[in-house]
Amino acid sequence: MKKLKLVSTVLMVAFLLVLSACGTSKTSGEGGKKTLKVVTDAAYAPFEYQDKGEVVGFDIDFINAVAKEAGYKINVKHVGWDPLFVEIKGKTADAAISAITINDKRKQTYDFSVPYFLSTNKIMVPKGSSIKSAADLKDKRVAVQNGTTGQEAVEKLLGVETKNLKKFKDNNLAIMELKGGGADAVVADNTVIEEYVKNNPNDNFVIIEDAAAFEKEFYGLLFPKGSKLKADFDKGIKGIIENGEYAKIYKKWFKVDPDLTDIKAQQ
Ligand code: ARG
Repeated sequence: MKKLKLVSTVLMVAFLLVLSACGTSKTSGEGGKKTLKVVTDAAYAPFEYQDKGEVVGFDIDFINAVAKEAGYKINVKHVGWDPLFVEIKGKTADAAISAITINDKRKQTYDFSVPYFLSTNKIMVPKGSSIKSAADLKDKRVAVQNGTTGQEAVEKLLGVETKNLKKFKDNNLAIMELKGGGADAVVADNTVIEEYVKNNPNDNFVIIEDAAAFEKEFYGLLFPKGSKLKADFDKGIKGIIENGEYAKIYKKWFKVDPDLTDIKAQQ
C-alpha cells in the first residue's frame, strides 16, 4: 500500500513536470519573447511618416512582415533622425528602420541587415529653374536633411566649407525651405521627392536626375554593432522576398511590382 502511494506520487510529480514544461515552451515562443524597440524618423513619406498620430509607411509594413517572419514582436517608435543613431549606438533600441543607406562610414559604428531597397539621391527644384544637373548646384542654395547621404553628396559638389548648404533636422523642413524661397533646390532620396511632386502638383516642383553625380544606394535595417538580431532579420528579409510578401507590400505603396534584380544580387 505504501509502495503504491509512492509510485502514484512519483507519477503525479512526473505528470506535473511534463505539464509545466509544456507551459514554458509555449511562453518562450511568440508570447514569451520580449517586444523589440524599433526606432525611426517618421518624416520621410512614403517610407515612414505619421498619419493621425500613427507611424505608417512602406518601411513600417516591411519591418512588421520581416519581424513576423523572423518570430519577433516589435514596436516602432518615432524618435527623429539624429536620435535614432544615438539610440542604436547606446543600445537603448534594438533596431532602426528609416530609409537608411548602407555605407562604409556607418558600418564602422553599426551593423546593417542585407539590403532591402534601391535608392539614389535626386534634385528637386521649382519648374523653370536654371538648375538642370548636379553641376548647376554650384553657387545655389541647397536644402538637405542633416546627416544624410544627400548632405554628403552636396558637400562633394559644393565643398564642405560652403555657406550655401542649408541643413535641417528632417526632410520636410528642407522642402518647406524650398517652398518658401529660402533655397533653390532640395537633394534627397528619389522616391521621397518623386512622391512629393506627385502629391503636391500645386507646388510646381520638378525632379532632376543625375546618375553620374549620385551613386546607387541600398537601404538596410540598422542594428547595434554585434547585435544577435541581424542573422534572424536577414533571414526574415530573404523569407518575405521569396514568399511574395515583399512584392505585396511594395505594390501597396508604389502601385507597381518591384524589380528585385538589384536587391537579390546584393544578397
Ligand atoms: N537614405 C538617406 C540616408 O541614409 C536619407 C534617409 C533619411 N531618412 C529619414 N527617415 N529621414 O542618409
